[in-house]
Amino acid sequence: MQGFLIRGGRALSGSVRVGGAKNAALPLLAATVLSGGVFRFRRVPDIRDVRVMTGILRSLGGETTYHPAGPGGNSELVVDTRHLEGTEIPEALMREMRSSIVLLGPLLARFGRATASYPGGCVIGPRPIDLHLRGLRALGAEIEESGGYIWARAGRLRGADIHLDVPSVGATEQLMMAATLAEGRTVVRNAAKEPEVVDLQRLLRAMGARVHGAGTDTVVIDGVDRLYPADHEVMPDRIEAGTLLLAGAVTGGEVEVQGVEPDHLAPVLAKLREAGADVQVGPDRVRLRQVVRPVATNVRTQPYPGFPTDLQNPFLALMCTAEGTSVIAETIWGNRFKVAEELRRMGADIQTEDRIAIVRGVAQLTGAEVQATDDLRGGAALVLAGLGARGETRVLGAGCVDRGYERLEERLQGLGADICRF
Ligand code: EPU
Repeated sequence: MQGFLIRGGRALSGSVRVGGAKNAALPLLAATVLSGGVFRFRRVPDIRDVRVMTGILRSLGGETTYHPAGPGGNSELVVDTRHLEGTEIPEALMREMRSSIVLLGPLLARFGRATASYPGGCVIGPRPIDLHLRGLRALGAEIEESGGYIWARAGRLRGADIHLDVPSVGATEQLMMAATLAEGRTVVRNAAKEPEVVDLQRLLRAMGARVHGAGTDTVVIDGVDRLYPADHEVMPDRIEAGTLLLAGAVTGGEVEVQGVEPDHLAPVLAKLREAGADVQVGPDRVRLRQVVRPVATNVRTQPYPGFPTDLQNPFLALMCTAEGTSVIAETIWGNRFKVAEELRRMGADIQTEDRIAIVRGVAQLTGAEVQATDDLRGGAALVLAGLGARGETRVLGAGCVDRGYERLEERLQGLGADICRF
């Protein structure tokens, strides 16, 4: 098992450019199924989850070629779906990445059938897909669920008016993609407003889809007969940006993240300021300076534009050494405080009950051997805690962090951190 060895206590300093967003790249890649042709994506992060998604596309008959970034240039991922004909998502890959379920809608829309295994629960809580399936059924799909499998069939899908019980990011993306080739108009109400949904709309439009409203709570899709391949630059990763800013804050450092969309980070920057950081925003960059001990700050995760659940664990790591007591409320996932147990090994004083964590700030954390479970954000939080701690921290389970962060240790080394992979 790989891990990170961190010698903590160094204030980070310098600037770092963020990569493309994991949670945008995955549905964007799923959308390539909607049209047979050659797509070129720039700024696709080279992370494990993207490799799983390209693995699935290849298993369905697609071809994918990754060209790493040259000096000063962006990486490019070429996806060729001209010969993609398979409609069965392999169970092993489905297990490895539960969000592969978003392929169901595009496969159904293009080929009239799709099979997947049921995603089941995972470490951050149950991962229901009822809204995905209900929405696809409303579009006319016949879906059978048995023995842990989902079989979906349809003639041409037909537009429908769909109201989501909760603004699910995945269900919104799923239905947007499925509806692009349906007959007539689909309206998705109580849609997720996440920027990643807007990025998907951008690609779908470039492919010839008639879709608008992404970024608001109502997305409208008028089905077309055919879509075409397109080129696309993936939006910057707001969660990676937030994680790197938090690394600056945890170490009492000064860090600039470049190539970001600061508006996407607004809820996070507000909390960082409340915690005592000096935050300056430019057109495509954010600079953070943390000169005082962080101040206890309460956080409640919410759908966008609220505080993102994916930065809850990293923020928890910052609160471990804040002055005072903070309350962190997780409202999206049922089980996203597993990291608290590991942080306690480092001397953190955290009490959790159900979806609430109460953190009494201690003066300093102490290095320890800790384990990243399979929540990559928890893994990142442990790395941050290690950077701020006294002494040596070994974070076991680097592979889990690699699911969503591209060579996190190299990014941090560039900012002066003493971290290496073992
Ligand atoms: N939900 C349902 N039924 C459904 C779908 C979702 O009840 O059919 C519930 C979930 O149980 C959850 C809430 O709705 O309580 C939100 O889930 P959502 O569908 O929005 O999440 P997702 O699309 O599965 C994406 C990200 C997650 C991120 C969430 C929330 C991707 C690939 N994943 O998941 O990212 O936490 O949105 O913002 O986009 C991560 O990057 O670490 C990560 C887990």
